[in-house]
Amino acid sequence: MKSSAPQRSTAWWLATLRRRRERQDDEQLDLSQPIQWSSPREKEAAIAFFNAAFRAEESGLRQAHELAASVHEWDPDLTEVLRLYGDEEGWHRELLTEFLRYIGGEVRPMGRVTRTFYRLYGRARRMETIVLTNLMFETIGSTTYRMALRNVRHPAARQMLGILTRDESFHVPLNVHFLRRVLERRSAIERLRLALLYRLLFVSLVLLPLASRPKAMAFDGISRRDLARGYARMLAGLFEREPDLGLRAPGLVLRVLGIRRSDLDDAELAQTSIEAAERAADRTQVTVSAL
Ligand SMILES: [Fe+2]
Ligand SMILES: [Fe+2]
Repeated sequence: MKSSAPQRSTAWWLATLRRRRERQDDEQLDLSQPIQWSSPREKEAAIAFFNAAFRAEESGLRQAHELAASVHEWDPDLTEVLRLYGDEEGWHRELLTEFLRYIGGEVRPMGRVTRTFYRLYGRARRMETIVLTNLMFETIGSTTYRMALRNVRHPAARQMLGILTRDESFHVPLNVHFLRRVLERRSAIERLRLALLYRLLFVSLVLLPLASRPKAMAFDGISRRDLARGYARMLAGLFEREPDLGLRAPGLVLRVLGIRRSDLDDAELAQTSIEAAERAADRTQVTVSAL
């Protein structure tokens, strides 16, 4: 078994999030030039894409602040970390609201699949279920944004995608930290239950491109198979690096998508590592071209 990835303490995450908070207001979207869409379809797809992003921020913000309140009794520093983390999602939500308005869109009611996902997630009560689900959402979010950045050329959209890619990638190892802290307080049976949930979520999220592609592909240019493969690689690779968490991706799904476990250790996967989070501690040090 591989050795675990490096870890950082709650104090390190707290100091890092505070540092990021200080620089947050320096960063503004440059929306001075209107986007020249290639077709009305591309514009519609962009509105759908950023609506999905908006819903993810909204959910992340709410869950982080609810978790902050529930860990207060056993770890006040972790409470503060969760609160600052939720605030980053709140900042993303504001940026996305502004960006949607700029592209002539608005926040729309959720579609059927998205609504079902968030409704089920909203019912979760166990802390480990909430943290794992959130971690997996962060992983597919950062993957989608990074893959979209390879195809999207409009400068303002690239700036928006760059901010999201950089910050959601930072949130992945942060959520691994949350998960580890919560699991320290859980029994073997509870950990086993979580391993089963991981497999169920893994399959559901890898199938998600079936629902998202017809809506967003004219904007992000990512095919169904590429996105499903991207999700599977990142969701599997994340936990290959963290063997102590006991979460392993279903081998059958990996085989169907042509992914070998031995391939789950490359530069792309390193984008959501602790080392990448250390670089993102100062947001200004991460450029879009490095994502
Ligand atoms: Fe976010
Ligand atoms: Fe996030």
